[in-house]
Amino acid sequence: MSGWNFNMKPVRVPKINTKYRKIITKLPVPDSLPLFKELGQHESRSMHGQMPVIWDRAEGFQVYDGYGNCWIDFTSTIFVANAGHSNPAIIRALDKAIKQKLLHTYTFAHKSRVEFIKKLIDISPRQFEKAFLLSAGTEATECAVKLMRLNGQRQRANKVGIVSFLGSMHGRTMGAEMLKGNPISSAWIGYLDPHIYHLPFPYPWDEQLRQLPLGYDWQKRFESDIQGLKDKGIDFSTLAGFMIESYLGWGAIFYPKAYLQALAKFAKKYNILITFDEIQGGFGRTGKLFVYQHYGVEPDLLCLGKAISGSLPLSAVIGPKWIMDLPEVGSMSSTHSANPLSCAAGLANIKYLKKYNLVKESERKGKILHQYLNKLKSRFPDRISYIFGKGLLAAVIFKDPGSNKPDSVFPSYVCERAMQKGLLMVHTGRESIKIGPPLTIPDKALIEGLAVLAEAINEVDQEEKQ
Ligand SMILES: Cc1ncc(COP(=O)(O)O)c(C=O)c1O
Repeated sequence: MSGWNFNMKPVRVPKINTKYRKIITKLPVPDSLPLFKELGQHESRSMHGQMPVIWDRAEGFQVYDGYGNCWIDFTSTIFVANAGHSNPAIIRALDKAIKQKLLHTYTFAHKSRVEFIKKLIDISPRQFEKAFLLSAGTEATECAVKLMRLNGQRQRANKVGIVSFLGSMHGRTMGAEMLKGNPISSAWIGYLDPHIYHLPFPYPWDEQLRQLPLGYDWQKRFESDIQGLKDKGIDFSTLAGFMIESYLGWGAIFYPKAYLQALAKFAKKYNILITFDEIQGGFGRTGKLFVYQHYGVEPDLLCLGKAISGSLPLSAVIGPKWIMDLPEVGSMSSTHSANPLSCAAGLANIKYLKKYNLVKESERKGKILHQYLNKLKSRFPDRISYIFGKGLLAAVIFKDPGSNKPDSVFPSYVCERAMQKGLLMVHTGRESIKIGPPLTIPDKALIEGLAVLAEAINEVDQEEKQ
């Protein structure tokens, strides 16, 4: 959501009143402007740039402001509220935890940490035997790097190389920034870890943005990409781990299966660990519990966050005992690790996901979502270049009709227009709009939201052509 300023002058918009949406004021709401002004004065601007809606309450798949407006939510905040906003089971668990009067324990043990960790390991595939709990996703990715390097160093002192993919998102702390390989976002660091290497992301298009042909040899492509590292003088036996964002976040772009399978084969040959960063896509978002399960490869470690608790700050790294126990006792912890409230929320959240079969629901509703979006692509062939994603995760990728090049301006206007019509979507500031409603959204609300997206694209398109 960078680099775009949404209009802050209230405009009159058509009134809307459906079963799922209500817009009855100018937008942004004139009475909300003093709050934005306060934020502008007292808060770092790096937190700003979002659409100007003051959230007052969010329940299920809807977001309310305090001024009588109500939106269908296609964001789940940012892929957090998979089990629905203010999920009643999570709220009940939090109520109980608050009444127990245990808000923090640092690393002293407490019962809900025991129960949550046990549940997390229970629902995870067999190779994941232990977990380490943290608060933010960025801590989890840095922790996974530490574990992969500790394991590498057991084999030889210089086996510390980490390979990640250009364009990925792994967080905003220093190590996580370096994993992204984005020279702009990591320029502030002033140096780069000489043992973090990057491969180009295997985009499904060529330089002209044309889709690569069916049968393109992705295995060869991996072999040639990794050979590129060797050509730069990197000895494969010094590589400790691959850090893989399970799909490219900004565009919900999945890796070709054959590419990752070739990577896994290579990793096995050179004793290199594989971590999947599942922070965005984990917990059912893509129609499977974890995204890696789409690829037919077996990672060693998973980084989890966001929808792990559906609400409060919680993240985790999970893996087999022999990796998770590499750090010495007491050498990996964090003040808010395994906070009692976060663990209570996480436990209720996972139970709810299981009880209501939300992973399957994501797969089922995902078909509705993707069918609709693909029709939209046929309707606007000069605006939409690709639809990506799986399950209840999608990205619509926009292009400029004249140049056929990626267009980041048009989707910003589309997001704003949709907001004025009672639909919130993920504004990326790039050529994509991302869609990720709570997995609990009713089919009819999903379809109504998609119709709003279609209206918004159509209106902005017509206005631009005038
Ligand atoms: C794939 C991925 N990894 C890591 C992060 C960082 O998580 P956090 O913002 O909780 O630090 C994000 C956040 O968007 C993410 O999408």
